[in-house]
Amino acid sequence: MSFYEILDKMFSDFEEYKDIQKGKGVRGELITTISPKSVKLAAVVEAVHLASLLHDDVIDEAELRRGAESINAKYGDFTAVMLGDIIYSRAFYELTSFGEKIAKIISNAVYQLSQGELEDVKLSKEMNLDKEKYMSMIYKKTASLIQASCEAAAEAENLDTRKFALYGKNIGLAFQIIDDLLDVTQDEKTLGKPSMLDFKEGKMTLPYIYLYESLNEEEKKKLKSMFKKDLNNDQKNWIKNKMFKFGIIDRCYNEAKELVDEAKNTIKEYNFSKLQLIADKIINRKF
Ligand code: FPP
Ligand code: MG
Repeated sequence: MSFYEILDKMFSDFEEYKDIQKGKGVRGELITTISPKSVKLAAVVEAVHLASLLHDDVIDEAELRRGAESINAKYGDFTAVMLGDIIYSRAFYELTSFGEKIAKIISNAVYQLSQGELEDVKLSKEMNLDKEKYMSMIYKKTASLIQASCEAAAEAENLDTRKFALYGKNIGLAFQIIDDLLDVTQDEKTLGKPSMLDFKEGKMTLPYIYLYESLNEEEKKKLKSMFKKDLNNDQKNWIKNKMFKFGIIDRCYNEAKELVDEAKNTIKEYNFSKLQLIADKIINRKF
């Protein structure tokens, strides 16, 4: 059985679950690549991730998720929160069967990703211009669970957990940087959610931090006046054109690529060609 089949079996009793679209399954794929026997662990981690997205969509008031109506939009916030709680608590019940070490690795990551989400909410209140704060937030919000997935799978196979954790951390950081870049460069149809939504939600992601640094005083004022507003196409194009003009798109992409290269380097002594491929796929994607 694949980890998706296990996941579906766990939650098929809940009718709203059937409206949830499949994601990319990066975390599950990483776990089963490092440890083919750990299919159930992969399902558990994908369940935790899914629960976090259900809650995140309530917090972000998102209408769309994975190209379809989000659960909060379709059934309301209460249902989305409770379905998230159901999925999360069942995942933790299953997690206890993997032994203390693995349970601690995963549960600590959930603690971190919850902190990361809180930091994301707090940072969105004002125009954050601090790259370090952004990096620390995306590490917790996104990289921590990807790191934990690789570390736990390595633990299950008695491999060097530190190396696999570092691989996971770096591809996790790259994953979020690319996500934040695609929010700017891709259209709604490709993304499965509105484009340039981050800025409207108050999220000063890496391309916006670099953009602000590059603008002159007058342009800085203009960018500030657009922050957290509904942008028309002219305004969106102004932002995009400035980002291209200052080479910010390439700069962010190259930073993500460096992290991916470092990740690949960390595990090069192992014969895991698929892990090299997954790392490349993380930066070379359109959504
Ligand atoms: C997506 O970020 C959000 C996350 C990766 C983590 C969210 C975590 C929580 C809500 C904590 C959940 C806690 C438990 C216990 C399950 P994003 O909004 O940048 O990405 P998006 O564009 O895909 O929405
Ligand atoms: Mg969100």
